[in-house]
Amino acid sequence: MPLVTTKEMFEKSMKEHFAIGAFNVNNMEIIQGIVDAAHEEQSPVILQASSGAIKYARINYLTKMVEAALQETNIPIALHLDHGADFDTCKMCIDSGFTSVMIDGSKYDFEENIELTKKVVDYAHKNGVVVEAELGKLAGIEDDVNVASEDAKYTDPNQAEEFVRRTGCDSLAIAIGTSHGAYKFKGEAKLRFDILEKVKNKLPNTPIVLHGASTVIPELVEMCNKYGGNIPGAKGVPDEMLHEAGKLGVSKINVDTDLRLAMTGEIRKAFVENPSEFDPRKYLQPARKAIYETVKHKIHDVFCSTNKA
Ligand code: G3H
Ligand code: 13P
Ligand code: ZN
Repeated sequence: MPLVTTKEMFEKSMKEHFAIGAFNVNNMEIIQGIVDAAHEEQSPVILQASSGAIKYARINYLTKMVEAALQETNIPIALHLDHGADFDTCKMCIDSGFTSVMIDGSKYDFEENIELTKKVVDYAHKNGVVVEAELGKLAGIEDDVNVASEDAKYTDPNQAEEFVRRTGCDSLAIAIGTSHGAYKFKGEAKLRFDILEKVKNKLPNTPIVLHGASTVIPELVEMCNKYGGNIPGAKGVPDEMLHEAGKLGVSKINVDTDLRLAMTGEIRKAFVENPSEFDPRKYLQPARKAIYETVKHKIHDVFCSTNKA
């Protein structure tokens, strides 16, 4: 099956109330671990590359490795640009065969975000590519901010409706309290599901995207720390909250940090346990397996996209 856009998988996710995992890719082992897990679960999957990933792996290698993955499976796979910063980056990915791009105009004011997003949407749609946009600020929520400034970071449901109408974007990333990386919450994990519900009421047919949605799986953090890492106090979004988000209408859940932890934990373990070993395959193989297991768990137990291919 050729690469697909996210259109059909999102339609199915909204109708049947499950979420689709969007996993960040940077190299061959990560791509293989993710695709093998999605294939095993017969789940649709989104492979997403950030600008950093494209700089690291080089765009031709990424697209060719994804092409190779497609030849080994018949599940729907979309190739997506994560956090495209400007029109030129989105255009480069569209011209290179990506089927979906994100234009992240969240750092701009409302009107500038609309203008930039619309420009990307026009070019993408002409080329059969779909566009994810972002509204709201995905900053970490500190314990000591006051309510007014805290509210200012979240997506405004009324603005969301206007934003989607005026830009024609295909999906919308919203801010409800998640943040990128391994340190998402100081105290209890807290997400504003009330805002998600309001956005969904205003935009019942728009797929909603959750960034910064890694669980920061405690076992993986422990493993990193046990074998020489130093990641104290890391905390993510609990599985139950992600499950709830999927039920409430989130169609795409972004995961990068958990894959980084899985890979790093296994490599650290291999280095400590086999200091005389220097064949990269001996540590990259368990790392790839850890990616596979992490993705399989998310698809099967949290996002509920098993057998939705
Ligand atoms: O949201 C960001 C992703 O985790 C990608 O991170 O820009 O370091 O590749 P990166
Ligand atoms: P995490 O850092 O929580 O994995 O989020 C990844 C992400 O949102 C990629 O866009
Ligand atoms: Zn993100």
